[in-house]
Amino acid sequence: MPIVFHEKSREFHLYNRDISYIIKILPNNQLGNLYFGKAINDRSSFSHLFQKKARPLSAYVFEDDPSFSLQYTMQEYPSYGSTDFRYPAFEIKQENGSRISCFEYRGHEIFAGKRTLKGLPATYVEEAHEADTLEITLYDDLMQTELILSYTIFNDYAAIARSARFINKGEKTIVLERAMSASIDFIDSNFEMMQLSGAWARERHIKTRKLQQGIQGIYSTRGASSAEHNPFIALKRPNTDENCGEVYGFSLIYSGNHLEQVEVDTHNMTRVIIGIHPDTFQWPLDKGEDFQTPEAILVYSDCGLNKMSQTFHKLFGRRLVRGQWRDKSRPVLVNSWEATNMDFTEEKILSMAETAKELGIELFVLDDGWFGNRDNDNAGLGDWDIINIKKLPNGIKGLADKIEALGMKFGLWIEPEAINKDSNLYRKHPDWIISTPGRRTSATRNEFVLDFSRKEVVDYIYSVLEELLSSAKISYIKWDMNRYITECYSLGMDARDQGKVFHRYILGVYDLYSRLIERFPHILFESCSSGGARFDPGMLYYAPQTWTSDNTDAIERLMIQYGTSLVYPISSIGAHVSEVPNQQVGRITPLETRANIAYFGAFGYELDITLLSEEEKEKIKEQVAFFKAHRDLLLKGVFYRILSPFDGNEASWIVVSEDKTEAIAGYYRILCSANEGWKRLKLVGLDEGKKYMINNSRRNYYGDELMNVGIVLEDKDLCQNGADFSSAVFYIKSI
Ligand code: DGJ
Repeated sequence: MPIVFHEKSREFHLYNRDISYIIKILPNNQLGNLYFGKAINDRSSFSHLFQKKARPLSAYVFEDDPSFSLQYTMQEYPSYGSTDFRYPAFEIKQENGSRISCFEYRGHEIFAGKRTLKGLPATYVEEAHEADTLEITLYDDLMQTELILSYTIFNDYAAIARSARFINKGEKTIVLERAMSASIDFIDSNFEMMQLSGAWARERHIKTRKLQQGIQGIYSTRGASSAEHNPFIALKRPNTDENCGEVYGFSLIYSGNHLEQVEVDTHNMTRVIIGIHPDTFQWPLDKGEDFQTPEAILVYSDCGLNKMSQTFHKLFGRRLVRGQWRDKSRPVLVNSWEATNMDFTEEKILSMAETAKELGIELFVLDDGWFGNRDNDNAGLGDWDIINIKKLPNGIKGLADKIEALGMKFGLWIEPEAINKDSNLYRKHPDWIISTPGRRTSATRNEFVLDFSRKEVVDYIYSVLEELLSSAKISYIKWDMNRYITECYSLGMDARDQGKVFHRYILGVYDLYSRLIERFPHILFESCSSGGARFDPGMLYYAPQTWTSDNTDAIERLMIQYGTSLVYPISSIGAHVSEVPNQQVGRITPLETRANIAYFGAFGYELDITLLSEEEKEKIKEQVAFFKAHRDLLLKGVFYRILSPFDGNEASWIVVSEDKTEAIAGYYRILCSANEGWKRLKLVGLDEGKKYMINNSRRNYYGDELMNVGIVLEDKDLCQNGADFSSAVFYIKSI
């Protein structure tokens, strides 16, 4: 049983092979934290870790004990204003205007397994023995409100899942003004904070900074997890690198507004809070109502960033992603967007599909432009019940049947949360968009946001999509969302409930996803938001893969995919080979390099394959065959980053099978330079004692040689044909 309660010392110890997490019920019955880190032996008391000291100017909890102040105590779910002045985990406004609270320990439950979170995405277990859960119940007598803090520790992952639930048991309405998913205090601040930040077409670039006293953090108030800041941070020791050193990772399973904040106080204690962004949140709770926060995942690694990422990859890939597609091999697809945009005919689509079939591609995805009056981005969004028969005279069914007859699967693009004013749906329901009465409603890409906080709107979109998806053989859906939320206000809610709209919106999105997945379990969903503006763990619960970025340039993708791999499984990273010059940056890269990068993701193509030369088609045939032969290794193996594109002119990564008998490494050389010195690429993750051969050549090497001496890189790997953007992929197999 990896959760122990020591009654005498009133301490909980959650542990598995890798981590320990120790909670103490403090003298005032609130919860303190004593330790989170590498696994340590259990003992009946860790009370010596609870330090107290009288300090000038500090407020203390009990009049007769000046040494006990919450300001200097590591806590589990702190409140503001009762001796602690740091930012709190929650804040509740009461009827008399007070925001002071006092939640005290009332009891706890320890059980095998893990409960689901109603209406929210969360990690899960298939068998109760995979994890243990501790639920601690706290109660505020004056408010008559219960708070349940939930902690799940997984047997096989160095991770803890946390969330909180408030239940109003009193007569009076209370208002949650902040309800974070988790708060965790550290005794020191000798950390660097890593974040994944960027913008459209340069999502999830790794940024690192040393912690300073005061506040640092990242957030989104855009109504989506956002391209700007992914809902993830890590705290690493300054000497931690990919393979050595301590790092803590914090990830929020949520797709809406979020805050990840790190506060270092003037005694160098560090507090991390993670959850829904409080500035855009206000949730009245009437008698008997409850509020469940999203789930936060806390990961610890004592062996560098790679181990942290591997924990996230395994946990998210195996116990967050669900359904048939979690374990099934992902199809090689070709998407029409960069080939045709919205300008296509059935004939054109079929000729692309025929060529795709010849090349071994398995799934054809028809992107934007097939519905309503959709010839440009001014019109049509919302009209999912009208097929554009100018382009598709035989409808979606006719096209899908023909593609299926070729022996391929058919997939479709939708953007169900958005609407154009030039659409039948808008003309019928102009009040269904998110807009503030009396104010201008801003547009993005000529589109507006449907108010998914309203059930009738979600119900309507479900009914139309249900009909569409049952009308034809559709095996894949790309679910896009191309704007953020502005002028947030719901015409479906009272004034006092307007602080609920952002969260209710995302719950509406989750609801629609849930219903569609349940009704069409065979469909593979890929989430998308102008590329990767909603690449978050919340989406992964519904859609096993995400379109990583609208930027398909191979070199820019190195950074985007490298950063994304910090948290997200390789199987979730949609990656396509596109045409050159690249549509976003105009760069010309070799076809080999484009594939050598896209292999490390849910692989596909995004170009007009009918325009390729015979030589290029032959190469693509080989690429598709290579990916198919190794896709389970590439997408499900253990992924290690080797060389960071953020550090210089090269990048490298490797995927190794669990049993270390096979691996595929990618090496990328960005710019060529003249008269270079020798170069070797040191691999990681192999078995030191096993002998391996590389790319089926006769020569073989021990794993220790490949990891300590490295692969000798030759001129062709460093500078193909004397050109920039060269790359090499090494298939490593034990003999
Ligand atoms: C944005 C997506 O990221 C693209 O891949 C494409 O689907 C367009 N939207 C279509 O409008």
